[in-house]
Amino acid sequence: MKDVTSVMVEEHKLILRMIELVEKNTRLAETGLFNDWAFYIDAVDFIRNYADRFHHAKEEDILFKSLVENGMPAENSPVAAMLMAHDQGRAYVRNMEAAARKALVGEADQISIVAENAYGYVALLRDHIDKENNILYPLAERVLPEAMRPAMVEGYARAEEKAPGAGERYRRMVERYETKQAA
Ligand SMILES: [Fe+2]
Ligand SMILES: [Fe+2]
Repeated sequence: MKDVTSVMVEEHKLILRMIELVEKNTRLAETGLFNDWAFYIDAVDFIRNYADRFHHAKEEDILFKSLVENGMPAENSPVAAMLMAHDQGRAYVRNMEAAARKALVGEADQISIVAENAYGYVALLRDHIDKENNILYPLAERVLPEAMRPAMVEGYARAEEKAPGAGERYRRMVERYETKQAA
């Protein structure tokens, strides 16, 4: 059987590294030890283009769709719960970005708004990734028939072609901020 989830588990690893940076930098920002607001703009770029366009797009357009085609209900189901979390995540990110942009141009009192949405996103995505890695993906590997899988793998490749170099570019972004933090 062709594997259709381990590529996603790998992408989760990079997303979790960015989430950890968001959490650590926000803790420092709350105590006044971090004020690189541009980091949040980069984190939003990462989340929109890597977590959402690159990763969630594969889930929403291919993996989840295949599960529904294979008989999982679209409503009140694990897939519906995962889609709802993707949307909740997008709302946190919009609010975090708006506050970070204000902070960037010198507006006061944005830290608590950045922090509220940053922590909200971190908690949501950790829980979400945990559910996908440990429940939904193993379920997908159990139930999806071999006949559906080659088209899915092709679909992933096409999705990646739409974002050429994204994997590499965002891995370097995460590494750059991890190095800064270690310094
Ligand atoms: Fe997801
Ligand atoms: Fe995911």
